[in-house]
Amino acid sequence: MRALVYQGPYEVAVQDVEDPAIQDPSDVIVRITTSAICGSDLHMYEGRTDAEPGITFGHENMGVIEEVGPGVTSLSKGDRVVLPFNVACGFCTNCRRGKSAFCLTVNDPGTAGGAYGYVGMGPYPGGQAEYLRVPFADYNCVPLPAGTEHESDFALLADIFPTGYHGVELSGMQPGDTIAVYGAGPVGQMAAYSALLRGASRVFVVDHVSHRLDIARDIGAEPINFDDGDPAQQITEALGDYGTDRGVDAVGYQATVSSGEEQPAVVLNQLVDTVRHTGGIGVVGLYLPSDPGAPDEHSAKGELLYRIGRFFEKGQTMGTGQADAKRYAHQLRDMIIEGRAEPSFVVSKDIPLSQAPDAYARFDKREDGYSKVLLHPGMD
Ligand SMILES: NC(=O)c1ccc[n+]([C@@H]2O[C@H](COP(=O)([O-])OP(=O)(O)OC[C@H]3O[C@@H](n4cnc5c(N)ncnc54)[C@H](O)[C@@H]3O)[C@@H](O)[C@H]2O)c1
Ligand SMILES: [Zn+2]
Ligand SMILES: [Zn+2]
Repeated sequence: MRALVYQGPYEVAVQDVEDPAIQDPSDVIVRITTSAICGSDLHMYEGRTDAEPGITFGHENMGVIEEVGPGVTSLSKGDRVVLPFNVACGFCTNCRRGKSAFCLTVNDPGTAGGAYGYVGMGPYPGGQAEYLRVPFADYNCVPLPAGTEHESDFALLADIFPTGYHGVELSGMQPGDTIAVYGAGPVGQMAAYSALLRGASRVFVVDHVSHRLDIARDIGAEPINFDDGDPAQQITEALGDYGTDRGVDAVGYQATVSSGEEQPAVVLNQLVDTVRHTGGIGVVGLYLPSDPGAPDEHSAKGELLYRIGRFFEKGQTMGTGQADAKRYAHQLRDMIIEGRAEPSFVVSKDIPLSQAPDAYARFDKREDGYSKVLLHPGMD
């Protein structure tokens, strides 16, 4: 089959790879109809992880079941499904608690969590390909209505919609709260949108890519451009108060300042300033224990200069980690079906798999029109 394979920094190629096959009785094989490119893929694409050439990318996958293992009970050939990016077993201690991003059985001993097509997340090829093997399929597939309706909305259930929602959940947001979201990429947009769905009174979105801030304004958030000055100060001034109730980091360790210089802890520290005393911070932007392209030797080991003193003094709380996408995917699916949520406002491109290398380069440059790219292997 055809698949998008990592070749090395800034280089991906569509090439022939082996077809996936049923390996365990609980597997299914899915024919991919949509697989999205994610900001998380860019960390690997830019050579800013330990990813080795040869990985098939793609953790945001949906499609139609092509083949069913003999141990699968709830799914049949022809079913339309979306696959939350976390590969998980469903029966370990963490899965039982809903913490499917920290599954204890799908990765090496001593580590937790699995994902399709991601470095360090187990031996699971990604779905930017014609077909995908899904382990523990009864648990890892989220059933969808048959047909092609809401394809772009449902595709976002694999990662960014539940991840944005999770960022808001980690922040402890309650209806009526004010919240600041750092990052107007797809994840930040979904966090802002989730906060609005959950009854936030005011939502600020911080970035410096103006066309991304325009999208945030269109959904009812208040854009803050960090090129115009310290974002925490801009927000507290607009608020006329000491700080927002909640904050979300949807940027991660490749955060930059106005000049374009990377400062890995800048968003974490600005959130300490932005959020009020005893407020909550949800961190879904990615931080890694190792970064081969880090700006200094400490960041290379994931050690950042975090203002823990001010954080402690303000009595804030912080939640972090990969999102347990499966925990929210069914409910968010039902909101899409009933017309209460339409996250596809963030989607800007639907293209065949063969155009993925060009789309990676443009998404990586945050070009206008490349806010969220959906790949469709069937369009080739
Ligand atoms: N926790 C999870 O489960 C999970 C899931 C998906 C993505 N992620 C992570 O979320 C992050 C965002 O993903 P995305 O797809 O939206 O990526 P993206 O790269 O498209 O968006 C990041 C945005 O942050 C902006 N930015 C950079 N520095 C900033 C700063 N100092 N202040 C405010 N904005 C700043 C960039 O201009 C960009 O628009 C990535 O780190 C990604 O790996 C985490
Ligand atoms: Zn993703
Ligand atoms: Zn598990």
